[in-house]
Amino acid sequence: MSKPLLEVKHLKKYFGSSNHPVRAVDDVSFTIQPGETLGLVGESGCGKSTTGRTIINLYEPTDGEVIFDGKDVTKLSNKEMKQFYQNMQMIFQDPYASLNPRMTVKEILSEGYEIHGLYKNKKEREAKVHELLESVGLNKEHASRYPHEFSGGQRQRIGIARALSFDPKLIIADEPISALDVSIQAQVVNMMKEIQKERGLAYLFIAHDLSMVKYISDRIAVMYKGKLLEIGEADDLYQNPVHPYTKSLLSAVPQPDPESEKERQRIPYTPTEYSESDEEDLMLRDLGNGHFVYCTTKEFEAWSKEYPTV
Ligand SMILES: Nc1ncnc2c1ncn2[C@@H]1O[C@H](COP(=O)(O)OP(=O)(O)O)[C@@H](O)[C@H]1O
Ligand SMILES: [Mg+2]
Repeated sequence: MSKPLLEVKHLKKYFGSSNHPVRAVDDVSFTIQPGETLGLVGESGCGKSTTGRTIINLYEPTDGEVIFDGKDVTKLSNKEMKQFYQNMQMIFQDPYASLNPRMTVKEILSEGYEIHGLYKNKKEREAKVHELLESVGLNKEHASRYPHEFSGGQRQRIGIARALSFDPKLIIADEPISALDVSIQAQVVNMMKEIQKERGLAYLFIAHDLSMVKYISDRIAVMYKGKLLEIGEADDLYQNPVHPYTKSLLSAVPQPDPESEKERQRIPYTPTEYSESDEEDLMLRDLGNGHFVYCTTKEFEAWSKEYPTV
């Protein structure tokens, strides 16, 4: 395997006092390869956004490391920092909140170039803005309009265009389609896939349910209460989920086939009560095929029996 673009190693981010910390991210490790999409899934409050924000250096890790392009993101020089923010960008659930309502689309899209002193020539900058608009399915007529003149889906396209302005290697997409109409969601996801094909960028695609990440993810990571419970190739995780929480999440995904949809039953998740010695024994364990599950030795003995061996 080639060198990972991103390595998250034993990342912890705690909030609040040290007496009563909120363990938003609690010893999470994963990698993302260049050009790959990792889906990060879990219910609201499990720590997905905090993971993304810590990776992009908005929060300082409580412990652990984030290595991007071979460099520790908390130890960058000013010059490296500039480059870092060109190579890693974030897009958000609510594009409206992240777009300045008083700026035209052209101003929004060229703001970064101004800050970084790029494309100083007006013509050049305009051409760049038009190119960005076209790459997200908008056109140059949109450049002089304001965010409120667009639909939700179009605003998210503007947010994506802005994230693309420096041709990043990684975009952290924090629930980018959760606020959009179902009919628009697939359009935006497909567009993101197209952009990825053209530019070879990687995504950390955050979502609260598994149905949204299915079509875009190469691999999927499942998070629960700050812990990463299961990670594997997308198809493998769908077909052979091992952790009871993943099974429960999967049982919530509507089936396209009406017959299977009729049969579908929600599996409730009852969190395991672990003893103190169990707690020490808990770790991500290797099932093969790059599929890992967080469990005790005992659970692993039982659960790995269900997992097909190749
Ligand atoms: N800035 C913050 N200060 C204090 N607690 C926070 C902060 N951000 C998130 N949290 C807490 O951390 C946990 C994880 O939140 P978050 O990462 O937003 O989850 P998700 O994105 O999966 O919904 C929650 O309990 C949340 O209340
Ligand atoms: Mg969130």
